[in-house]
Amino acid sequence: MSFRYIGSKARVVDTIIDRIGSPDSGMFIDAFSGTGAVAEAASRAGWKVHVNDHLSSSAIMSFARLVSKADVLFSGLGGYASAVEVLNSLKPQRGFIWREYSPASSQHCSVSRMYFTEGNAQKIDAIRSQIREWRSREDINQSEERVLIADLGHVDKWRSQRRIDVMSMKPRKLSAVLS
Ligand SMILES: C[S@@+](CC[C@H](N)C(=O)[O-])C[C@H]1O[C@@H](n2cnc3c(N)ncnc32)[C@H](O)[C@@H]1O
Repeated sequence: MSFRYIGSKARVVDTIIDRIGSPDSGMFIDAFSGTGAVAEAASRAGWKVHVNDHLSSSAIMSFARLVSKADVLFSGLGGYASAVEVLNSLKPQRGFIWREYSPASSQHCSVSRMYFTEGNAQKIDAIRSQIREWRSREDINQSEERVLIADLGHVDKWRSQRRIDVMSMKPRKLSAVLS
């Protein structure tokens, strides 16, 4: 999964893993995990991995790259693909993202922000609100909540100003082996 992130080591990750060498009985600690690209590569190379980042979006993104399929069954919602399908079909909702990050911002300040179209911003608001509700009803566990937030966080897909209301979340390929 690609993600633009200043300082990402995605392009040099193979070199980093080569330098680190083969896994041993120790632990690979990615203390500043960012996108989780290095942590994921270490995990794939066979290391036991801990990730850390003080930015919660990064911590969630890293977690979602490492979580094992077995820990995010989404059994309360009929599986992961069903959960994403429900999120993609929600009625748009005017909330924080619509108010602050779309041209609707001009209604309360002097700037018309163009991060998202009004349509896509409302879809994001509806999805975020539904994830919060699922979690509060315990329809999903904390790991499942993080995976869905990470999926939603791939905002590059939502950015187009030309194609209004065409964006949707894509289910990720959950790993069967990483943990
Ligand atoms: C350059 S990025 C890491 C890039 C990462 N290796 C990758 O390939 O995506 C640095 C990360 O360190 C995190 N960071 C900076 N200071 C930190 C601190 N004191 N504690 C935890 N995380 C920190 C930032 O939030 C940022 O996500």
